[in-house]
Amino acid sequence: MGFRKLNGKNIVITGASSGIGRAMATQLVRSGNHVLALARREERLKELQDELQLAAGSLAYLAGDITLEAYRQSAFDWISENWGGTLDVLVNNAGIGSIGPFAKSDEVTLRKVMEVNFFAAVELTRLSLSALKQSDVPVVCNIASVLGHTAMPMKSEYCASKFAMHGFSDALRIEMAAEGINVVLVSPSTTRSEFFAAVLSGASQQAKGMTADKVATLAIKAIKKGKREVLLSWGGRCLVAFDRLLPSTLSRILTRWYARQSASKVGS
Ligand SMILES: NC(=O)c1ccc[n+]([C@@H]2O[C@H](COP(=O)([O-])OP(=O)(O)OC[C@H]3O[C@@H](n4cnc5c(N)ncnc54)[C@H](OP(=O)(O)O)[C@@H]3O)[C@@H](O)[C@H]2O)c1
Repeated sequence: MGFRKLNGKNIVITGASSGIGRAMATQLVRSGNHVLALARREERLKELQDELQLAAGSLAYLAGDITLEAYRQSAFDWISENWGGTLDVLVNNAGIGSIGPFAKSDEVTLRKVMEVNFFAAVELTRLSLSALKQSDVPVVCNIASVLGHTAMPMKSEYCASKFAMHGFSDALRIEMAAEGINVVLVSPSTTRSEFFAAVLSGASQQAKGMTADKVATLAIKAIKKGKREVLLSWGGRCLVAFDRLLPSTLSRILTRWYARQSASKVGS
């Protein structure tokens, strides 16, 4: 796939009220695209729309919970009414985390993580296929995580949701190749956003790492270049390479690390 121009395109972004989604919406509207921003916090979406009033493109929004079928359908109806049923890019970005040992978590938390990070994205994709097929340059961009390639303790539910997204994206890419729909899997490492403040359970940690703006720029670059998948940081790339080359060694290192962590918690 050659270089794709992102200008004047119709783009849906989920989770556009903060972090990576908000940064992608901002950059894409500033470069002349038309974005439909989805998230629950309406005031945030309105604020973003006001901020981008003078930008080259445009931003519309629909506030709602992406896990609800009726809300996803309303986004699809909006595309039919306002964009003549043509969607160029779908960015599945909305996501939530959960931190803590599996044994201390519960079914409600697991199901919530899977509903937002996986089922909602997959069902929105299913609903969007007919509109994507109307585009000359259709793309589904799934924001996953390094934790969708290499698993870490204390994040079993989150890893499960992102591994699921990884597997889904790889299968869909092959199925959609004949339709000309590109499937791009973007896997950021730790990113500075509201993500850690919003984790469903467990101790939240101080977010460090890449800025959401930088992640957005790299994700947009991957869409333009028609990449299969991108791991955004060197740390992430090294971790995943290590896991693929020496999986048992990494597992032993993580097991020792987790045992030390658990012991220091019991001791403190
Ligand atoms: N931050 C990191 O370290 C990191 C690393 C790797 C991958 N990621 C992935 O990057 C993506 C974006 O995360 P972020 O870091 O930008 O976090 P963020 O600032 O917390 O943004 C998450 C977005 O998802 C939306 N969202 C959550 N639940 C939703 C629901 N039920 N319905 C609709 N929207 C919902 C939130 O909007 P509302 O609350 O307004 O609904 C928000 O806009 C996620 O998929 C995350 O897993 C993040």
